[in-house]
Amino acid sequence: MMATVPRVTTGVSGLDEMLQGGIPQGHVVLVLGTPGVGKTCLALQFVASGAARGEKTLYLSFEEEPDALLAAAAQFGWSLTEATKKGLLKIVRVDPQDASNALKRIKSQFPQEVQSFGPKRMVIDSISLLSALSSDEVERRNVLFTIARMCRQAGATTLLTAEANPLAPEVSRDGMGEYVSDGVLLLAATEDPQAHRAGLAMKILKMRRTGHVRTRQPYKIGPRGIEVDARAVDFGGL
Ligand SMILES: Nc1ncnc2c1ncn2[C@@H]1O[C@H](COP(=O)(O)OP(=O)(O)OP(=O)(O)O)[C@@H](O)[C@H]1O
Ligand SMILES: [Mg+2]
Repeated sequence: MMATVPRVTTGVSGLDEMLQGGIPQGHVVLVLGTPGVGKTCLALQFVASGAARGEKTLYLSFEEEPDALLAAAAQFGWSLTEATKKGLLKIVRVDPQDASNALKRIKSQFPQEVQSFGPKRMVIDSISLLSALSSDEVERRNVLFTIARMCRQAGATTLLTAEANPLAPEVSRDGMGEYVSDGVLLLAATEDPQAHRAGLAMKILKMRRTGHVRTRQPYKIGPRGIEVDARAVDFGGL
């Protein structure tokens, strides 16, 4: 008999469908994309679906303040403020401008926080800013490997957001996240100059231990968050 892989829902039904049910539990998944394609939105949707199931999430934010994240979620109808009050969500804000403090915090305090909080889900938004904390290549790799190991040890299913390289949009700007990830999900703006169409599409570049759709599928960011059309075929410009 084939062993079934336990899945974690992303909160985006079309994406779950592309993944044959969701992200394999415990995976560290890189969410790659240029600015404004919805990486944070996807992360918040992932958090909201966890909160709806009573699962704890630890969200490490290098970009937006917790209040801004909660307000963004509220706009989509997800009450993450309530999740925070119930103790299901902990947003840890790290200021990337204060690099030495931030690195210290990540190396010492954060592992303790993961251990004592015991999250089922984790988000790091974004590892591009995390890697900007240090100019030393070896240290940058070490920090990222430490974090990925921590997520795995905690058994938490994790999304790492990262900025895509504008010259090669299927790889991250610093090329690091790919090394520590079990899966890579690409979010991209698409254009069809002939039809004057512009849109968004998502593609699973890699996902260990599961079959998945390999084509780019269109998505929208609407009033209820991200919606992926997992079955669309023949849409322009790709
Ligand atoms: N309430 C909303 N309703 C519809 N669309 C929205 C809403 N909020 C944001 N968007 C869309 O989502 C986009 C931004 O999404 P998000 O902040 O998740 O992107 P991102 O990839 O995290 O960007 P960055 O790289 O700047 O962090 C906006 O540019 C807008 O098009
Ligand atoms: Mg963002």
